[in-house]
Amino acid sequence: MTRRGIVLAGGTGSRLWPITLGLSKQLLPIYDKPMIYYPLSVLMLAGMREIAVITTPEDRAQFERTLGDGAQWGLQLTFIEQPSPDGLAQAYLLAERFLDGAPSAMVLGDNIFYGANLSRMLAGIPAEGGTVFGYHVADPERYGVLGFDEGGRVTQIVEKPENPPSSYAVTGLYFLDGTAPERARHVRPSARGELEITTLLESYLADGTLRVERMGRGFAWLDTGTHASLLDAGNFVRTLEARQGLQSGSPDEIAFQRGWIDAAGLRKRAEMFGKTEYGRYLARLL
Ligand code: DAU
Repeated sequence: MTRRGIVLAGGTGSRLWPITLGLSKQLLPIYDKPMIYYPLSVLMLAGMREIAVITTPEDRAQFERTLGDGAQWGLQLTFIEQPSPDGLAQAYLLAERFLDGAPSAMVLGDNIFYGANLSRMLAGIPAEGGTVFGYHVADPERYGVLGFDEGGRVTQIVEKPENPPSSYAVTGLYFLDGTAPERARHVRPSARGELEITTLLESYLADGTLRVERMGRGFAWLDTGTHASLLDAGNFVRTLEARQGLQSGSPDEIAFQRGWIDAAGLRKRAEMFGKTEYGRYLARLL
């Protein structure tokens, strides 16, 4: 069965208030594109074309307006509502019908990845079991954190620990097999009342089927959780794009390169964005 994608883009965005009072966090700009373009691009780079976007009921219309049905990128997008932010693992319950037993990759709509050979790394992820990505960070206590034994094997995953067992955070990109929804049903709410993704991952760990890929220092995993880091992420993208003259996180470019849309399809998009640097970039690809 082909792997299906999930972009989890709900939540209140309360850490970015007041800018997210009237606009979903995942639609805020990261320099020249909406934030959700970046995680969506990651799923596309991993080869997924059937993708569910999970949003709050209030924000759904804005996401539909921003992304459409996905046909402009050769994708099939499905929109699913999460009535309240009850935890990341709930996504698998909400998406159970969409997944229909298929393996999946879920990315958090506010996670931005950049690095050489990302698509090659993601293409090699096996369909069985679970795979998560560990990334060395300066402030692991803000994330899900991995613990390892002397042999470097993962032994634990803890959510926002006071005393982190390592400096390796679990990024917001999860490749899980078709058993994820069934496993999610057994996740009980944590002390903060959420169905934690780490509890779901623990079930794979207990079965010995959880793989950890380390994303080395050549990768950038950017945070957008605070006003400062949001601005930093935008500046990072701006710096790269200005230096390279290449886009990062462009679903249009990826779709064209993969042959999911043809030149006529890309031209339509280029014309639509004609006056912008993004539009001119797409025109140059032709
Ligand atoms: O970014 C990676 C981290 O993401 C992981 O290391 C943690 O293990 C994981 O729990 C998560 O931590 P956060 O503190 O970033 O979780 P947060 O509650 O901020 O939610 C992450 C995103 O998912 C956020 O953009 C909102 C969205 N979300 C969150 C919840 C709880 C939903 O769409 N629905 C939800 O129910």
